[in-house]
Amino acid sequence: MTEFLHAGRDDIRRAATLLREGAVVAFATETVYGLGGDATNDSAVAAVFVAKDRPRFNPLICHYPDADTALADAVASAVARRVAKVFWPGPLTLVLPRANRCPVSLLASAGLDTLALRVPAHDVARSLLQQVGRPVAAPSANRSGRVSPTTAQHVQVELGGRIAAILDCGPCDVGVESTVLDLCSAQPKLLRAGGTTIEAIEALIGSVELCSGTLNTIRSPGMLASHYAPSLPVRMGAAKVGKREALLAFGAPLTGASLVFSLSDQRDLSEAASRLFAGLRMLDEQAAALGLTGIAAMPVPDQGIGRAINDRLRRASAPRPPKEESCP
Ligand code: TXA
Ligand code: MG
Repeated sequence: MTEFLHAGRDDIRRAATLLREGAVVAFATETVYGLGGDATNDSAVAAVFVAKDRPRFNPLICHYPDADTALADAVASAVARRVAKVFWPGPLTLVLPRANRCPVSLLASAGLDTLALRVPAHDVARSLLQQVGRPVAAPSANRSGRVSPTTAQHVQVELGGRIAAILDCGPCDVGVESTVLDLCSAQPKLLRAGGTTIEAIEALIGSVELCSGTLNTIRSPGMLASHYAPSLPVRMGAAKVGKREALLAFGAPLTGASLVFSLSDQRDLSEAASRLFAGLRMLDEQAAALGLTGIAAMPVPDQGIGRAINDRLRRASAPRPPKEESCP
């Protein structure tokens, strides 16, 4: 049985106790719900991989209540400290070399000598992390390869019965995962577009190398081409809707669709990001009853958080691998 907890003091304490005991607990962050395990405990980390069916070669992000605690586990350059100071807490993950005495399980970083660190901007998450008193490894709380959850109900559908508890804090504000920035070498590299815009990062530290898609599978194994996928195939940049397609609209919807989810009537990119995963889930669930076999997604500007939206749609529309090779 999965315990359903709420954001009150006693429930946060209960979630922290479960995590300290090595159990797996889902909790909200400002981006998406995470599936947490004590990052210093090998068997807790292993349980996170098992609950998600996640391949062990795909490392996890470690979550911390504040920047000082996070950077103590890594080798942080002056640039990394500056970035942390400006963007933490917030939807940005930094990949840095592991510190010599880093207590994080090697399983969490999939044997790499680097660590992905993040300080979420979510009061309940930070209070939980403070009470756990150890880094919490947390991938998104979905089955591997599927759409990330932005509500506790999504987590329940994905992982109910497989995990100890879900800490319900309502819908996530940002709606797409954190930006992943590799600061291990002099040239900063963007490993995943996300909630912190590349424009804002470049304004602070200058040009960032864009690493994307399959070229990037070794540095950031989670960025395999097909990921974040609903069951139905997604077609991007749609200018017309096919007879058997549901519509993911941005701005005024195209005519002719029998099932429509609007990301943002006003073409507001932040609103669209926050509704993206819920929209893909909704269309996926309702399409079959209407005889629909695909999702047509209207174009979204490739700027600001729109880049993260397009990245997720691109992965959702990539050819799917055969089942047994299914990616993280
Ligand atoms: O917003 C988020 O980042 C959410 C919330 C829960 O914090 N977490 C999340 O985790 O999206 P996950 O596991 O779904 O994605 C983590 C990404 C993966 O693409 C993984 O390959 C990459 O970060 N990653 C983790 N550790 C890494 C490392 N040491 N080097 C390079 N990439 C790494
Ligand atoms: Mg994920």
